Amino acid sequence: MQTCYWKLQNNEQDAELMSKAAAFIQAGEVVAFPTETVYGLGADGLNGEAVAKIFAAKGRPNDNPLILHIADVKDILPLTTGLNENAKALMEAFWPGPLTLVVNKSQIVPDAVSAGLETVAVRFPSNKFAQQLIKACGCPIAAPSANISGRPSPTNAQDVWEDMQGKVAAVLDGGECGIGLESTVVDTTEPVPVILRPGGITYEMLTEVLGAVEIDPALQGDASYKPKAPGMKYRHYAPKSTMYLLEGEAARLLPQFVSNALAEGKRVGVLCSRVTAEALAEVKENSHNLLLAPWGEGLEELAARLFYLLRDFDRSMPDVILAEGVTESGIGLAVMNRMRKAAGYQIVSVMNGEVSLKNGELPFFMLKY
Ligand code: TXA
Ligand code: MG
Repeated sequence: MQTCYWKLQNNEQDAELMSKAAAFIQAGEVVAFPTETVYGLGADGLNGEAVAKIFAAKGRPNDNPLILHIADVKDILPLTTGLNENAKALMEAFWPGPLTLVVNKSQIVPDAVSAGLETVAVRFPSNKFAQQLIKACGCPIAAPSANISGRPSPTNAQDVWEDMQGKVAAVLDGGECGIGLESTVVDTTEPVPVILRPGGITYEMLTEVLGAVEIDPALQGDASYKPKAPGMKYRHYAPKSTMYLLEGEAARLLPQFVSNALAEGKRVGVLCSRVTAEALAEVKENSHNLLLAPWGEGLEELAARLFYLLRDFDRSMPDVILAEGVTESGIGLAVMNRMRKAAGYQIVSVMNGEVSLKNGELPFFMLKY
């Protein structure tokens, strides 16, 4: 399939590109488009056959349901059998924005979207291009992140192109996504709403509106819990190189581990704060085997750059990636969730003065510190 690449420019030509993209979607084809979180792979959300093409393009397991994207609050009504007070309060506080609500689904939602569940996930994105596209289509757009299943989600159109060229009808380039991590998913069908996936709308923001909110225990990476968002159980966001996440005290050992690994002749990728990168500047000068991926200052900047940096490591392919953990407050909860998954839960921590690794044996270069 030939894939069209259309750059949106914020001028009058955009309307024409939007109607061409909408025509593809109305004809049952798949179009990649920008949102404020990550790029999405969109199809007519009420057409089961069109939705099946999304799964094929991504190589996505079909027991993993999709989010329906709408461009007006009232457009959720035909998709659900009813909304409770919690759902209404969240819509009022955070829509449009990076929050997805799981609600009881109505008859018109195809099984291909909900993967056979009785519920459906709905989101009203704030990105103007996404809103224009949904409006031009006149239907809810089913859209997962626009990556090949398992890879980090794309946050710019070039990364979408890399994964989807030849597999979808068109890619709409609307520049970089501001938030950089997928939306927060909240199950509103429980008496106390549950965060199934953390994102840009944080735990703190949700509790301010709702009072009590739970976090799906499966997010801690405890294998004894089955995640309620089917997508959270898959290996995800994973760079091709082996990655270790250094949490808490262990983050301070990063420079030592880097030296040890370099001494073994390894090419080492490091995902870290600018401060840590500066501390490694001298090592970097003496070794071209050290690949630094600093994220800069705050957690928001890390969130916005994380997937880009992980995808960049797939180009440079170090032997090992060491990532510095961050605090879990605010968007840090979502960042740590994605980093733990990217690392395949190879989490390094310090307990009683000893370095330990969850999920496997410590590599040789972590034995000396
Ligand atoms: O920010 C986002 O949400 C992006 C952009 C494109 O909008 N979309 C996205 O979609 O991240 P996807 O398919 O990559 O992730 C959807 C997540 C999956 O973990 C899925 O299992 C969960 O939402 N989900 C969807 N429907 C659900 C349902 N009915 N119950 C529980 N979890 C559900
Ligand atoms: Mg995804």
